Amino acid sequence: MAGQFVTLEGVDGSGKSTVLSHLGQALAAQGYPVVLTREPGGTDIGRAIRAVLLDVESTGMSPLCEAMLYAADRAQHVAEVIRPALEAGNLVLCDRFTDSTLAYQSFGRGLERAWVEQLCEVAADGLVPDKTLLLDLPVEEGFRRLAHRRATQDEGRREARLDEETIAFHRRVYAGYRALAEASPDRFVIVNASRPVEEVVRACLEVLAPLLASVGAAS
Ligand code: TMP
Repeated sequence: MAGQFVTLEGVDGSGKSTVLSHLGQALAAQGYPVVLTREPGGTDIGRAIRAVLLDVESTGMSPLCEAMLYAADRAQHVAEVIRPALEAGNLVLCDRFTDSTLAYQSFGRGLERAWVEQLCEVAADGLVPDKTLLLDLPVEEGFRRLAHRRATQDEGRREARLDEETIAFHRRVYAGYRALAEASPDRFVIVNASRPVEEVVRACLEVLAPLLASVGAAS
């Protein structure tokens, strides 16, 4: 495919969204064709699915239902946004993708790994990121940042269902990410996210530099 597909991953509160928007601004300013998107919620249908998934009122959701809703969001997102953007030659930067489902629903919730991998492959229509930046932050620090966001943002307050998970759940997610990164060392780059955001963005830009040649900046 003509474009490049880059995903950002990490535990809750690792700063992905902030880093993504800084990356997008920096690359667009250099003339690169960048598309920023996220999961869940990268399409209108996905935003409705996101509301169900993260609403504090959605208590009692089964792990299987949860996994399938993330997959449904992804199927729509790949078909409507990601694949067309890649075919048009864009650099697509996506906040979370299949590794999130493996880390949260398999390592976190305990759903069978092989089944979740299969679900991800079907939902992503076989699409695999060219590069995955794993923003590495201790779970406790992520929680601290998240608590601040929940206290200060309206959107944050509504989307708190997963905050009610135990710290043990989030530790399993973190360990899952590390295991996924170890299993695919060519695709994953672990970025220390405990630093000021400008430094994290700079480190990410260095990782992305080799990919930029194939998308090309507008002159
Ligand atoms: P966000 O806050 O990074 O937008 O992500 C929303 C939540 O959804 C976050 O707690 C991680 C979770 N999530 C999963 O559990 N599985 C998935 O496949 C995705 C994409 C997100």
